[in-house]
Amino acid sequence: MTGGAGFIGSAFVRRRLAATTDELVVLDKLTYAGDRDNLDDAFADPATAARLRFVQGDIADATVVGPLVAEADAVINFAAESHVDRSILAADDFLRTGVIGVHVLLEAVRAAGAADGQTRRLLQVSTDEVYGSVETGTSKEGDPLAPRSPYAAAKAGGELLVQAYHVTHGLDTVITRGANTYGPHQHPEKLVPLFITSAMQDLPLPLYGDGLQRRDWLYVDDHADGVAVVLERGSSGEVYNLPGAGERTNRDVTAAILDRLGKPWSLARRVPDRPGHDRRYAMAGARAEALGWRPATGFEDGMTCTVAWYRDHEAWWRRRRDAAWDAYYERQYGQRLADSVEA
Ligand code: NAD
Ligand code: DAU
Repeated sequence: MTGGAGFIGSAFVRRRLAATTDELVVLDKLTYAGDRDNLDDAFADPATAARLRFVQGDIADATVVGPLVAEADAVINFAAESHVDRSILAADDFLRTGVIGVHVLLEAVRAAGAADGQTRRLLQVSTDEVYGSVETGTSKEGDPLAPRSPYAAAKAGGELLVQAYHVTHGLDTVITRGANTYGPHQHPEKLVPLFITSAMQDLPLPLYGDGLQRRDWLYVDDHADGVAVVLERGSSGEVYNLPGAGERTNRDVTAAILDRLGKPWSLARRVPDRPGHDRRYAMAGARAEALGWRPATGFEDGMTCTVAWYRDHEAWWRRRRDAAWDAYYERQYGQRLADSVEA
């Protein structure tokens, strides 16, 4: 599996090693978003450490990927540049990992199968963002793709390659489209951990635009379990939506965080909007439900656990809010906060 030192990938590692006797090889480039410390628990327990191997490397590097895929039974691709705002600042790495990297993985699966006659399933972890903004109703797997950010376009490009390799080369592929995910170990650049760790320090919370954009929030363990179910039971060539357990506006999410921390609404600031900001994501989940998966964690419980985790892991998030973070924060929010008004 790739991207296992990141947020959702590391949850998948923890849960998969606990629930099965699988051996996992994690391939991760360790970008700013990935860190081996996300796998500390798995390496600290002898029962799971014996079944986990870590390799630092790039999924777009065929010389690294080829031998690893040759010894694998399946390939699960979590690796991606994952932050929409960074894709607006510069998209090159998004395309390299999201399109070229996926192509390298597909070619490695094809070559390994040709060499030993074994079928290796490839699961591509994708996103609800490929549907674009959904003003009403819910997106179904057959709906057209309409990505609107460079991040979403790169994810859609990766998916299209996966589907093309299934049709043209007969590869055994499945794709998951997960909803907005939150929980422990998420990098503090994303809305939920940004607002938790900023509110803990009484720093302003930059709400883009009117804050009435809606997301369908999915707890990280549920996302990881959905990927596992699709890996095991999904039909070859199919796509599976993994919706969340609670649609909320960004203002609702902000209030839920402030409430749990006992902090005032005055920390929330209305700042100039994200360009091309998708108003709403919402997916239908019948196809994944037919496989036996649905999210188990409600928004209120999931948010309580998440806030508690960040409270208990201050060293973890402070390591990520470092000097490089300060430069990013200034670029992303400096002028916005200077222009901000009461939210
Ligand atoms: P993340 O940014 O926390 O982790 C990404 C991981 O991939 C990091 O460990 C990083 O080092 C690694 N990586 C990046 N480029 C790489 C490369 N070229 N080679 C090898 N490793 C590389 O992201 P996340 O939030 O855990 O997302 C994981 C996957 O789930 C992504 O594909 C993302 O598009 C998808 N997804 C995320 C969400 C969400 O809300 N976070 C929702 C739906 C889908
Ligand atoms: O929907 C799935 C996607 O969810 C994943 O594919 C992406 O990898 C993941 O990053 C996430 O994308 P979003 O853009 O929805 O997440 P983000 O946390 O960046 O923003 C959530 C909402 O909050 C969105 O409407 C933008 C808003 N927001 C975000 C930030 C960082 C703010 O209002 N202020 C902020 O500072």
